[in-house]
Amino acid sequence: MSRKSEGRRSKAEWVAGCTLHVADRKRFSNFGFVSDFEFRISNFCCRVSMCLPLLILLAASGCRRDMFHQPSSKPLESSDFFQDNHMASRSLLQHTVARGHLDENTVLYTGKIGTNLVDAFPFSITRTVLERGRERFDIYCSPCHGRTGEGNGMIVQRGFPAPPSFHIDRLRKAPVGYFFDVITHGYGVMYSYAERVQPTDRWAIAAYIRALQRSENATLAEVPPEQRTTLEPKK
Ligand code: HEC
Repeated sequence: MSRKSEGRRSKAEWVAGCTLHVADRKRFSNFGFVSDFEFRISNFCCRVSMCLPLLILLAASGCRRDMFHQPSSKPLESSDFFQDNHMASRSLLQHTVARGHLDENTVLYTGKIGTNLVDAFPFSITRTVLERGRERFDIYCSPCHGRTGEGNGMIVQRGFPAPPSFHIDRLRKAPVGYFFDVITHGYGVMYSYAERVQPTDRWAIAAYIRALQRSENATLAEVPPEQRTTLEPKK
């Protein structure tokens, strides 16, 4: 047992903060730590092991730096290499478009001619398109607008503001380009679906909304004769 003077020990304790309090020491002595020296060593090891994860983390982040900060420039990054544009790459030529984004057909991509909404579809509407439209509508629109477009979807029943029914006169008379435009840009509290619904699918949805509107306002005379019997009320 190497016991130094009490005064020196307590000073070292205070300066290094590396030894345990007397009470702790008593507790630890139950585990067989008997000398000051052993106390200090064990306490020091304890502290080092607590800091170890931090040290490893610091060392690991140090390794990453070289790979992370490459001396090469990224395209379009600001740089003094080209004096005319202060970018790391040459200026883009006029009218450059990103690959796959040459949206020349403005009707297909905006639903407008100039500033006027179009009232005709930019491609022919087949049964397949309508089925696609129904599928997309049921996924993206029915939670609020309801499966039949009446504006009573489940989210509305749970408190979201109710949209108007698609069967009101104003929306029945609205040009198809209007539905495309609302899906693209959103409307009031309804947010844009441009990220989730691609342009051709927006048209398919618009076509299906037209079908829904028709279904609520058609007369029996408009149904093909061979199918009327299935709709007529049984006597
Ligand atoms: C999260 C709920 C929600 C979803 C999902 C949603 N809408 Fe809406 N929609 C609304 C609300 C609410 C309004 C009314 C907004 C207002 O008046 O502020 C609205 C308005 C509209 C309007 C305009 C109605 C008018 O008064 O002129 C159209 C068209 C429309 N939605 C179509 C769609 C289509 C198509 C989809 C699917 C791609 C869709 N909505 C998805 C909630 C939703």
